[in-house]
Amino acid sequence: MRNLKNILVTGGAGFIGCNFIHQLLEGEPEFTGRIINLDALTYAGNSASLTDLAGQFGGTRYCFEHGDICDRGFVDALFNKYGVDTVVHFAAESHVDRSIYGPETFIKTNVMGTFTLLEAARNAWKQGDGVVFHHISTDEVYGSLGETGAFSETTPYDPRSPYSASKASSDHLVMAYHHTYGLPITLSNCSNNYGPYQFPEKLIPLMILNIVEGKPLPVYGDGKNIRDWVYVEDHNRAVWTILHTGITGEKYNIGGENEWENIRLLHTLIDLVSKKAGLDPEKVRGTITFVKDRPGHDRRYAIDCSKIKRELGWTRKVGFEEGLAKTVDWYLTNTSWVDGIRSGEYQHWVEKNYGERD
Ligand code: NAD
Ligand code: TYD
Repeated sequence: MRNLKNILVTGGAGFIGCNFIHQLLEGEPEFTGRIINLDALTYAGNSASLTDLAGQFGGTRYCFEHGDICDRGFVDALFNKYGVDTVVHFAAESHVDRSIYGPETFIKTNVMGTFTLLEAARNAWKQGDGVVFHHISTDEVYGSLGETGAFSETTPYDPRSPYSASKASSDHLVMAYHHTYGLPITLSNCSNNYGPYQFPEKLIPLMILNIVEGKPLPVYGDGKNIRDWVYVEDHNRAVWTILHTGITGEKYNIGGENEWENIRLLHTLIDLVSKKAGLDPEKVRGTITFVKDRPGHDRRYAIDCSKIKRELGWTRKVGFEEGLAKTVDWYLTNTSWVDGIRSGEYQHWVEKNYGERD
């Protein structure tokens, strides 16, 4: 069992990273160390997701560092200042649609940013500081499945969007740093996450908010693409497990074993949100709008996560019904967080790009 004292979390103001920090500081009593959150606060980073923690733990167990993972001098300074022993690398450009309209930032952050962090970690590790580097990645690196089968850790990489290609590149770099230099790394590839604090450009929060606001519900293509959904806390518990007992140099798939066609998921959400918000579900169904398909839209993802279950004893705790209900409740009650996001640059982007698709 590793003793983690100074954890550098990158992208901790984003969806999964902020949940990770909340879970660690509020829900893991055996963790007594410090978290350093390095985030550039792009459109997807939101310090409002962490304000309560800054008040409760700020300065001692939680430190926020505003900066770019591509800035080597800045990253080196953080390793020195905090004596970082663990890196949990969430920071990325994460939305497939954006990668289609503007791939460059994906290459910069996901490839060059990961490279920069690896170099800084290698430098600190060479000086004798024990550093473990955990890289967070996606099942999308494996490509698209037909009607059967599931991605395992040995499935060959076949990324098909600029997003997944940039994540695949970063995965290869992480593995190369282990094989070439011996840097202690672990890597995880997870399926689609859902839960609180997710930026509402992704399917589930976008649909929840559009249902409540009476806006069109844009379904890409025929709506029959399939995704595997895992509750964000289950993903983060898996990461925590890997940090403690994962084997150096190994990769682990994480998933919900929970496949849903998009259109079926949308009908389920319509029923759930309508019930909680006092809406007529049949009227809401009338706002479903089939729009032009995403270019290169992967048909199906499914994850075989038997390795992490068998070798590290992780299992999913939150069922889909429970997780979706918690998520809908969160978006219906955290209106100031939602309003802060919906009024900004994001809204402008959605209007511009949905215009193009229609
Ligand atoms: P997100 O877009 O919500 O958050 C990304 C965070 O990274 C933001 O806070 C942003 O400000 C920060 N960031 C972006 N560029 C940066 C830079 N150059 N320097 C420093 N910070 C920067 O993403 P997310 O959904 O929380 O995903 C986190 C990680 O998990 C990503 O690596 C993603 O590829 C991976 N992942 C996500 C999912 C999912 O369903 N969301 C599934 C599997 C894997
Ligand atoms: P998304 O949440 O963008 O995640 P990813 O592309 O990484 O899987 O999309 C999930 C699925 O939902 C994907 O098949 C695309 C589809 N989708 C829609 O049909 N409409 C939408 O408005 C969005 C955002 C996604």
